[in-house]
Amino acid sequence: MKTALIVYSSNTGNTEKVAYAIQLGLEEAGVQVTIKKPQEAADVDYFSYDLVCVGTPAIQWHPTRQMDDFLKAKMAAYRKDGKIKPSAPKVVGKNVLVFVTYSGPHTGLDEATPAGKYLAQFFAHVGFNIVDEWYVLSEFCGNEENSTKGRMGDIRGKPTVEDLQKIKEDAKALASKI
Ligand SMILES: Cc1cc2nc3c(=O)[nH]c(=O)nc-3n(C[C@H](O)[C@H](O)[C@H](O)COP(=O)(O)O)c2cc1C
Repeated sequence: MKTALIVYSSNTGNTEKVAYAIQLGLEEAGVQVTIKKPQEAADVDYFSYDLVCVGTPAIQWHPTRQMDDFLKAKMAAYRKDGKIKPSAPKVVGKNVLVFVTYSGPHTGLDEATPAGKYLAQFFAHVGFNIVDEWYVLSEFCGNEENSTKGRMGDIRGKPTVEDLQKIKEDAKALASKI
């Protein structure tokens, strides 16, 4: 049975919804899923899973502090174990999916992609294959102006049930690539 770890951070619930949709899709495809927040994931070993899904909201085009602390601590431990090597050789069968929820109120997608690229590098450095980066447009909870007058238009209610259904289906399809 294939295995996946989902580690996600979420302040206002958007990224959590996406994480749950990914979990459902993977489970429907027969993948055994472990899901955790970074604060609960200090002891995980990425290499115990076929797929790691790592998700964060874009906060000033960075991940959350909790996610950043988690990734840096894991990186330090892997460096100590000699797993950070020159040229970052690929480890067969180890995959990462990055997902970022964002509202893009000022400059659109450009203020989310740095967070996704940043996350991906922590896994690329230990030889993981980056299967994809998903950027999910989401309401700026508690801020009507940023949810209606921003670069992305009226994003209230996003991710919608339909958006989440699509994410679930995409996750299901992803399972066949790991
Ligand atoms: C303090 C703060 C900073 C934010 N910075 C960005 C940003 O740089 N880029 C962006 O696209 N959205 C930004 N957002 C919007 C969030 O990324 C977006 O609403 C996200 O879906 C929230 O996820 P969550 O509900 O899982 O916490 C910011 C939101 C807050 C509250």
